[in-house]
Amino acid sequence: MVNLFMKPCKLVILAAVFVLHIKSLLADNDAWLAFGDLRGNIESCGCDPSTDLGGVSRLAAQLAMERRLRPDVLIFDLGNNLDPDSTNLTKQKFLIKALSGLKSSARLFNHREMALKHLLKEGEDFLLSNKNPTSSLKTKSFILEKNVLILGYFFNAHYQTDLVPYDQKLLATWQKIQKEQQAKTMILLFSGQETDLKQISKSQLFTTIIRSNPKPGPAFDPTEKENPNSLALRLNDSLSMQVPLAGVGILRGGSAQESAAQSLSAIFKELENTNSKTQEIKPGLLNEAKLVSWLTSDLQKESPLTDLMLSYEEEMAKEFTSNLKARHEANQKSNYIGSSSCKSCHNSASEIFAHSRHAKAFETLKKVGKQNNPECVRCHVVGFSQGGFVSESQTPELAGVGCETCHGPRKNHGLGQERGQEKAAASSVCQNCHINPHSSAFDFTKYWEKIKHR
Ligand code: HEC
Ligand code: HEC
Ligand code: HEC
Ligand code: HEC
Repeated sequence: MVNLFMKPCKLVILAAVFVLHIKSLLADNDAWLAFGDLRGNIESCGCDPSTDLGGVSRLAAQLAMERRLRPDVLIFDLGNNLDPDSTNLTKQKFLIKALSGLKSSARLFNHREMALKHLLKEGEDFLLSNKNPTSSLKTKSFILEKNVLILGYFFNAHYQTDLVPYDQKLLATWQKIQKEQQAKTMILLFSGQETDLKQISKSQLFTTIIRSNPKPGPAFDPTEKENPNSLALRLNDSLSMQVPLAGVGILRGGSAQESAAQSLSAIFKELENTNSKTQEIKPGLLNEAKLVSWLTSDLQKESPLTDLMLSYEEEMAKEFTSNLKARHEANQKSNYIGSSSCKSCHNSASEIFAHSRHAKAFETLKKVGKQNNPECVRCHVVGFSQGGFVSESQTPELAGVGCETCHGPRKNHGLGQERGQEKAAASSVCQNCHINPHSSAFDFTKYWEKIKHR
């Protein structure tokens, strides 16, 4: 009998000690979440289940959920969210609207914001604490939220007239701000060189430094989730913590780390698993187990951005339609003819093709309602904006990834001219579409095996 009682008692005591231990690790009022580096990722394309993460729509859904759980949580936007393709104005405008709707506590003025500053409204809520005094940029030099002082540092030599690099003078300015605001907790949102990061870290001015991802370019790294380098960068608390690239997840900090909706046993399990792979994670640092919330597809349904997304889709569809005439004219002049006309002479190749997923690539887009989005269409049809596909009704034979996607326009060849002059498709053509994040498993030998037709 006694023994039966002892066990639960011990457990309760253990649990109490355990909870106290967690509490002591976490200061009150320091819950924060950070994201950034979306680089145009509005919504995961769905091309590849293993890279199906992130995007501003899911981000909004997750943040809304977090705020319901913890209304006080600080939210940091590390910037660099706009599309690297500056010409897609519809997309940029949508992103600007969507991101300001997230009502982040602080937003770093980063590379993309600098490059596209003409699109940002005057008085936008951006943060930059190393602005050149002579610069006309309209940003805040610091933000004080719930006794937390937040500074922002972005430096790139390209923008020297607007920015000053980190040095003793800048440090003195920051120290002055700290004194005036009487802040104990200081957080820096950082984007710049490693050497600057090290210097700033050494100054010991900041409680936490949160950095954006220094990797250049738009593409997101589908291995980011497991990448030991990213993991180390996120965990290396002596220096900084890094937000996941392309907005595929939200970095959790302070007491926000224990609030994620996962059971303790799951956290333990995760710790065990991760611990065997990386030395950086020490057992006992429980709060590190929930460092990132990955933005998975289940969030899509609940996004507060759904209406905004729908109007964006409408805008894209309008663009698609407004370019119909230009596409039609280009098509009239081009040498595209369509896959069906190859059949009479290349019967077996055509048979194989008809049963491949390439043949159904446009159907696939229709199933997810994206058949009028030029961003999707370009990889799911033949010769988009190159004189090929115009629209489903005008050029049905060019919908889907047809013969001429890989072999080039062949009207003349099909009509008996230009025989023996053309070269067969190079295997490198696959790389126009089978790239990350659309096709992370692509391996020419394996994929070719599925569609070979010679
Ligand atoms: C214009 C873009 C484009 C090019 C170029 C392209 N593909 Fe594809 N590929 C697609 C799309 C889109 C799909 C998915 C179609 C669907 O499921 O609706 C696909 C699907 C496939 C699949 C089916 C995958 C599976 O798991 O069943 C294979 C295999 C494939 N491609 C091989 C290739 C190879 C090999 C090349 C180069 C010789 C190539 N593709 C070039 C766009 C392209
Ligand atoms: C850069 C080229 C590219 C773009 C742009 C692109 N796709 Fe794809 N898509 C592919 C390729 C390649 C595949 C096949 C991937 C594989 O099987 O390895 C694919 C497959 C798919 C599939 C089939 C997934 C499955 O497993 O059945 C869907 C759905 C899809 N794409 C939707 C979209 C949507 C929606 C967009 C626009 C938001 C889009 N695609 C934009 C290249 C592209
Ligand atoms: C996804 C890209 C892709 C599509 C779609 C495709 N092909 Fe090919 N095709 C290739 C590649 C790659 C080769 C091999 C080239 C090589 O081995 O050098 C090839 C080879 C061929 C060859 C043989 C050339 C030779 O030198 O023996 C013929 C003929 C051919 N394709 C016709 C077609 C026809 C007809 C269609 C449509 C029904 C089609 N292909 C669709 C990529 C494609
Ligand atoms: C009237 C018959 C005929 C039609 C239609 C035809 N071809 Fe061919 N094709 C040939 C013959 C014959 C050869 C081999 C002689 C040569 O190399 O020209 C050939 C060779 C090829 C080759 C391999 C050599 C090369 O030129 O790259 C490819 C690829 C090819 N055709 C693709 C196509 C595609 C794609 C279509 C449809 C748009 C098509 N062909 C329509 C008769 C035809």
